[in-house]
Amino acid sequence: MSRMSALFTRRSPVLVGLDIGSSAVKAVEVEPTRAGFRIVAAGAAPVPRGAVVDGVVVDSGAVAGAIRSVVDAHRIRARAVAASLAGSAVLVRRIAIPRMSDSELDESIYWEVDQYVPVDLGDVTLDYQVLDREPDGDRRGTMDVLLVVAKKDRVAECASVIELAGLEPAVIDVDALALHNAYESAYGADRDAVVLVHAGASVITTAVVRAGRLELTRDVLLARYLHSPAGEPGGLRDEARVEETGREPRAAADDKATAELAALEVERAMEDCCADEDAADSIDRIVVSGGWACAPGFAAMLADRVGAPVVRFEPCRGLEVASRVGAGVLLAGDAPAAAVAVGLALRRRDDR
Ligand SMILES: Nc1ncnc2c1ncn2[C@@H]1O[C@H](COP(=O)(O)OP(=O)(O)OP(=O)(O)O)[C@@H](O)[C@H]1O
Ligand SMILES: [Mg+2]
Repeated sequence: MSRMSALFTRRSPVLVGLDIGSSAVKAVEVEPTRAGFRIVAAGAAPVPRGAVVDGVVVDSGAVAGAIRSVVDAHRIRARAVAASLAGSAVLVRRIAIPRMSDSELDESIYWEVDQYVPVDLGDVTLDYQVLDREPDGDRRGTMDVLLVVAKKDRVAECASVIELAGLEPAVIDVDALALHNAYESAYGADRDAVVLVHAGASVITTAVVRAGRLELTRDVLLARYLHSPAGEPGGLRDEARVEETGREPRAAADDKATAELAALEVERAMEDCCADEDAADSIDRIVVSGGWACAPGFAAMLADRVGAPVVRFEPCRGLEVASRVGAGVLLAGDAPAAAVAVGLALRRRDDR
């Protein structure tokens, strides 16, 4: 079993952040500046229906084509890519294990994982981060570790579609972690408790970030709840609009269903992480991203249901944006859809 190439830190050379979704591929290229980072290219291209279903690449030729078109149309120069997996390809879990040193943990992590993850260890690749080395109270003597497990075949499938597009897969990340990375870049690490909700065409990712740390995260598939499931033609497409935005038009009924499901996921996340407190009170705000965050009314519907303030994720906050990117679809009202792509672009090749 190998370690995942690269999650929790950042340093030099440049990568293209590539968020391969079931409705669109989003790409963001940044370059380091003296003060931080500058976005030098960004854009989206539609993914043909059925080419990615529930996060699984079904038609790699079509997906590679979408990657090529976004890279060409937006003159993306870097060849090394940071991409991410979500849904059934990954599992992110917070576990409590006996307190130990880093080197001890390195050696015993596989044994620990074996107890928590119901998969064959030969089929997965893993990474982890110590969250809390010294919890107090009755949990003394243990430590909390965030465990990230990914299916090897899905990592390989993601890498091969990137190669098919003529690019180099340098980092394979996880949507939730990229989202957290973008959040940190945009908002810093304050003491607040925040629920991030990234709602796309087929997956909703929720993540709880407290005092700058990713505490828990979960993905849920939308297909079953929506009017027009991913992969099935849903009436007439406005081809021009799809070309322009890289997105499918949506059915009105989907708006409510998606907000409803997002609300359930937020409630569940709050219960999981704030069992001993009054859940809604312990959360400072909900930060929404993904295509659905761009839908008028989505944030309001969610705020209404959950009873906590909801704001739209502005992933480009704090980043310089090169003037040629100005008109790019990702950086106007559509910026929340690029949250994962931005988080990926901020990864470094030598990330561990
Ligand atoms: N105003 C809007 N602009 C763009 N997309 C919108 C808007 N409102 C709702 N959506 C929905 O957002 C979805 C696209 O979001 P996003 O680009 O995040 O999905 P994706 O990353 O391709 O999918 P996946 O869930 O597989 O990751 C579509 O289902 C679209 O109908
Ligand atoms: Mg997505």
